Amino acid sequence: MPKLYLLFFLSLSFLPFISSSDDYKSFVYAGCSQTKYTPGSPYQLSVESLLTSLSKAAESSTYANFTSSSAEPAYGLFQCRADLPISNCDSCIHSALSQLSALCPGATGAAVQLRSCFLRYDKESFLGKPDDTLLYKRCGGAAAGGYASDVFGLRDAALGSLTAAPPTGGSYRVGGAGYVQAMAQCVGDLSPKECTDCVESAVAQVKAVCGFAVGADVYLGKCYLQYWSNGVYPSRHNHVDETGKTLAIIIGILAAVALILVFLSFIRRAGGSGKY
Ligand SMILES: *[C@@H]1O[C@H](CO)[C@@H](O)[C@H](O)[C@H]1NC(C)=O
Repeated sequence: MPKLYLLFFLSLSFLPFISSSDDYKSFVYAGCSQTKYTPGSPYQLSVESLLTSLSKAAESSTYANFTSSSAEPAYGLFQCRADLPISNCDSCIHSALSQLSALCPGATGAAVQLRSCFLRYDKESFLGKPDDTLLYKRCGGAAAGGYASDVFGLRDAALGSLTAAPPTGGSYRVGGAGYVQAMAQCVGDLSPKECTDCVESAVAQVKAVCGFAVGADVYLGKCYLQYWSNGVYPSRHNHVDETGKTLAIIIGILAAVALILVFLSFIRRAGGSGKY
């Protein structure tokens, strides 16, 4: 995805106090092309009709691709995690569309990944083309004992089960070994073989970039992979909260200091007025 620049690395994991009922829609990353379309151009109409088609398709399917028919076509697709109920997929895609218009207004190409859905459109067709570019990663904490920890044998077995021959599934794969669990989701335009290749690349890349992590997520152009360790991590949903917690503590301390200052100045003023 050379033309997409990942500009937004905001993540709701910075807000650990956000309720978990909408967790499946939490923001992971978005990327926007640097180029923008001309307002009122045929391409803008193509993008708008494409996004409308994608939004409608999400009411009945967890994957769809479209090409808008016009002199300047736009290509697009979405993929929900294949085990997601359709109503949640629909809701996730709606969030994704509103995030796209907020984050990438007028972009000729853009992609957004929420926790359980992905949506992308572009001016050049990327449909059916494998893409194992690493776009985003989240590494959990390091296991105590480094590679001496038994997490890694289990991790390798759990990740290996995602690509074991014959592939355990289509675009959505789950696996595990001991207390380590793993899942992968490919975009539905890949063949089972291409999906396996993408997941294998994700396995190699997560080991390279997240080293000793007891859990991690990596997002490639056409697939993503997550693994987590039950008992080591309380759950896969908050394994990247450490920065958020630190931030929350810092904000809390600053707020407390501010309150104390206000209180002290109030006391001083109250004391001062008593003297006169
Ligand atoms: C795109 O969708 C059509 C059906 O709408 C399907 O036949 C085709 O295989 C899809 N293409 C890809 C690359 O997934």
